[in-house]
Amino acid sequence: MGWNSWNKFKSQVDDRVIRETADAMAKNGMKAAGYVYVNIDDTWEGKRDASGNIQTNKKFPNMKALADYVHSKGLKIGIYSSPGPQTCAHYEGSYGHEEQDARTYAAWGIDYLKYDWCSAGKIYPDDRNTLQAVYQKMGDALHSTGRPIVFSLCEYGRGAVWEWGPDVGGNLWRTTGDISDSWDSMSKIGFHQSNLAKWAGPGHWNDPDMLEIGNGGMTNTEYRTHMSLWAMLAAPLLAGNDLRTVSPEILRILTNRDVIAIDQDREGKQAVRTWKSGEQEVWTRPLANGDHAVAFFNRAAEPAKINVAWQDLGISKAPKHARNLWLHKNVKLHGAQYLTEVPGHGVQLLRVSE
Ligand code: GLA
Repeated sequence: MGWNSWNKFKSQVDDRVIRETADAMAKNGMKAAGYVYVNIDDTWEGKRDASGNIQTNKKFPNMKALADYVHSKGLKIGIYSSPGPQTCAHYEGSYGHEEQDARTYAAWGIDYLKYDWCSAGKIYPDDRNTLQAVYQKMGDALHSTGRPIVFSLCEYGRGAVWEWGPDVGGNLWRTTGDISDSWDSMSKIGFHQSNLAKWAGPGHWNDPDMLEIGNGGMTNTEYRTHMSLWAMLAAPLLAGNDLRTVSPEILRILTNRDVIAIDQDREGKQAVRTWKSGEQEVWTRPLANGDHAVAFFNRAAEPAKINVAWQDLGISKAPKHARNLWLHKNVKLHGAQYLTEVPGHGVQLLRVSE
């Protein structure tokens, strides 16, 4: 859990944005709710010095001092690179300098690396073995530094990365192309993850990309669906909005403890779609204490009724207790069937128990 600069700031991220974001996260309840990483995405990179050491550009005058600052807030700091000669935004990549860059990140005090394929496709063939070897190289380099650094594989799901991501030291891997701040983009990505469930587990996760919550392109109902879906998917929760100006309503969505508890459940089992009829779907996720998280999604624009039998949702014994995790209210249950109405593009997220 954390934050990443890309979705909101793109190339406008700088030292000040990172410091102010860390300040905000430490104070606004996000750190207390479990958000830890403050991640700098693309565009921090400068040129290499005469010995090949990567330098920052003028937006980041002193990366070590910045890392110290973020650490002083009780948070961790992430950075970004590419196995290609250039990053996606055409800044300096790590090609030919993998070990050296890993040592530099460790010396700066970096805790997280997002490693983005980008121009690597111009150097290497785009097949599974090559992808695996390229990511292994940086995985080994990070490991050799002796510093624990979360390794985020970003190659948009090429070469069935979920099958080998953990082997190269990956802690998370993107399963798709880039998300954007629209219902269309978010829902297309989120609702297409069911088949990947079995690859997620403690320490290594499917990553359907960063959150767009609070960036303005969706309604709050849609943002609650976004948050619920990512929690059901056991997805990394990397906020992507401006935390310096975040509204109380968006903060409530990002810091809903009951929803975060689903996302972070220690069993680490990702939800699967257990029921679908037209544009209505139900997803079920087993939890460590024997409860189930059940999400009733309505992908249509108009409100819709959903009427299901618990048995059809992969829950063999009809639950006796249910809590609505957005309304923070208990829900009355009536035996084997459950009938509810869900707003357009909305969700009803329940935690149910026997
Ligand atoms: C790719 C990644 C994005 C972001 C940009 C930065 O598109 O998928 O998440 O990191 O590069 O250039």
